Amino acid sequence: MKSKIAQLTDAVNAFSAKTHEELEALRIQYLSKKGEISELFNDFRTVPNEEKREIGQLLNQLRDAAQAKLNDLKTALEATKGASEKMDLTRSADTLPLGTRHPLSLVKGEIIDIFSRIGFTVAEGPEIEDDWHVFGALNFPPEHPARDMQDTFFIEKDPDVLLRTHTSSVQTRIMTTQKPPIRVLCPGRVYRNEAISYRAHCFFHQVEGLYIDKNVSFADLKQALLYFAKEMFGENTEIRLRPSYFPFTEPSAEMDISCNLCGGKGCNFCKHTGWVEILGCGMVDPNVLEACGIDSTIYSGYAFGMGVERITNLKFQVKDLRLFSENDVRFLQQFQ
Ligand code: PHE
Repeated sequence: MKSKIAQLTDAVNAFSAKTHEELEALRIQYLSKKGEISELFNDFRTVPNEEKREIGQLLNQLRDAAQAKLNDLKTALEATKGASEKMDLTRSADTLPLGTRHPLSLVKGEIIDIFSRIGFTVAEGPEIEDDWHVFGALNFPPEHPARDMQDTFFIEKDPDVLLRTHTSSVQTRIMTTQKPPIRVLCPGRVYRNEAISYRAHCFFHQVEGLYIDKNVSFADLKQALLYFAKEMFGENTEIRLRPSYFPFTEPSAEMDISCNLCGGKGCNFCKHTGWVEILGCGMVDPNVLEACGIDSTIYSGYAFGMGVERITNLKFQVKDLRLFSENDVRFLQQFQ
């Protein structure tokens, strides 16, 4: 009996199988009911009592070893099967869905492109600002009602820390750190405390521009804006300037373009006026230049500011401003 067990132990150690069929054959030969190892268990009855304990242990070890060996071979077979049978190396790769640029980024990029062709460069600044850069330097006197024009989100009071309400704050930073001539565009996100609806949001995007040099005139401003309007909305676009008020510009104006939907004939979009408003502008107030350390007897300048959402709406007729911040790919994919 013992020698038979030893012989079978050698056989088990030498088990090998290249296919599931070979593996199954081994199982049948050794471990099935009529298998060689099972037969030994049947013969166990004939073992003399004093040897039963020792032989029993050997038999159990043999059976466990055989089972373990078969399990190992099975796992090994399945692993190689995974690589060779489940994977189709000739299959073409899945295409990755391509993202699109956000409409606001597209339009912002186009605005920057147009002005960079006439010498403007881009400057950026912080969204969290102090009172001086957003209001003080820009000729908003303390307690002046003009501060109510832009409902401000305050983070701290005394000294004021706030979310910028326009990117004119970046212009303040440029004027206080650079010498004229200055010709700069300030794109960025701004915040105003407004109820969210289809036509207003508590944040939006602006591109503001500033040009300071000797002898800059209102005619230069008008020329630059006319050039912009034609580049952005087409060669036949006309502009008109209406007097307006901003604390930091004098004189100030708001600019309309001829309605790009009806070409100026009048439609629902332009409320039958033939014109739509697109930006604010003016000559930089001498007080602003002085506050920023620029000699207003030598230099003059113009500034303008527009909402990127507004321009995007005019170009693409987006009816609801909230779509811009909802990240719905069905909306975003329409802007290729
Ligand atoms: N800062 C103004 C606004 O946010 C826009 C503007 C910029 C107007 C420059 C005139 C000159 O509404």
